[in-house]
Amino acid sequence: MTDTLDIKITKTQQSRLAQTDFSNLPFGQIFTDHMLVVDYADGEWKNFQIVPYGPLELSPAISALHYGQAFFEGLKAYKHADGKVTIFRPDKNASRFNKSADRLCMPQLPEDIFVNSIAALVDLEREWIPTAPGHSLYIRPFMFATDPYLGVSPSKTYKFIVLCCPVGAYFSKPLRVKFESHYTRSAEGGFGYAKAAGNYGGSMEPFKRAAEEGFDQLIWTDAKEHLYVEEMGAANVMFVLDGKLVTPSTRDTILDGVTRDTVIALARDWGMPVEERRVSIAEVVEGAKNGSLTDAFGAGTAATIAPVGAMHYDGVDYPMSDPSTREFSQKVLKTLNAIRYGEAPDTHNWNFLV
Ligand code: PLP
Ligand code: COI
Repeated sequence: MTDTLDIKITKTQQSRLAQTDFSNLPFGQIFTDHMLVVDYADGEWKNFQIVPYGPLELSPAISALHYGQAFFEGLKAYKHADGKVTIFRPDKNASRFNKSADRLCMPQLPEDIFVNSIAALVDLEREWIPTAPGHSLYIRPFMFATDPYLGVSPSKTYKFIVLCCPVGAYFSKPLRVKFESHYTRSAEGGFGYAKAAGNYGGSMEPFKRAAEEGFDQLIWTDAKEHLYVEEMGAANVMFVLDGKLVTPSTRDTILDGVTRDTVIALARDWGMPVEERRVSIAEVVEGAKNGSLTDAFGAGTAATIAPVGAMHYDGVDYPMSDPSTREFSQKVLKTLNAIRYGEAPDTHNWNFLV
């Protein structure tokens, strides 16, 4: 892989691996020894390098800092019992990477370069991949504009960087969520479908308020009426209603999640009806009241399958069943883990071998 891509590798002289406590891996705080750094200039990607993880030297005028020409991806690598390392569906992240780039007037990165350069980094960091159940190596590719120019126009230079973090569970308990009825994550015609940095910056104030009100997460609703469900925090949201898997259909306000797509594929494998459509808060709340809502969870790379423990809407709490008794999400989690750790056949070819 590195042969065809010509990546210059400079290894660290001081690995932090031995000092890392793998029994305590808070999300996104522990970085592996190396990172991938690639430059874009003169219309091409160049200077592919893997270097020791560390600070960058940048002009304070780079347009990423001023106008938010920046976006990211998130994917995971897993270590199997026989030592094999696989990355889960990196081709999906590669194509979404380019959708985000397109929306933000940033250059395309050929999908094979995205996948193979990440695989080269993961290959070098394979000792960092935790093996405890539910643990993995979180991979964070991102691109940002580097022209030192304060005019509002697309940069001509960029950096593509990939970091890796050994991680455990993102959420440690079932989530108490509220349907957001004031703030909006993204509106039609905007860029909610892109993993633009600005989408996440704009979500922090609503999250802070929700946390102050005692909620773990919020469910974003449509910008026009706040009557339809969109996503849950930084994850897609999925329900089992009347025995069917129901989830908001993707559109320009919603991120087309890899986990969401994977859960839909599993449900279809199992012969379960799937409905991708507009989903109203009213029907979800009604289902919680009359018992036809038997499952609700967030689906995302970091979040994995994150059960909703209780919902809140318009001043009313709607408790839900104990997540450990829920048939669908438990089966999804078990099946997904078995595929990712190489314990079950990978019939969809989701695992990319490093
Ligand atoms: N929606 C948002 C806003 C996200 O940030 C994420 C996380 O990546 C997702 C959904 C889930 O997407 P995926 O399953 O590809 O990680
Ligand atoms: C991911 O699941 O990769 C995400 O992007 C969530 C992240 C914002 C923590």
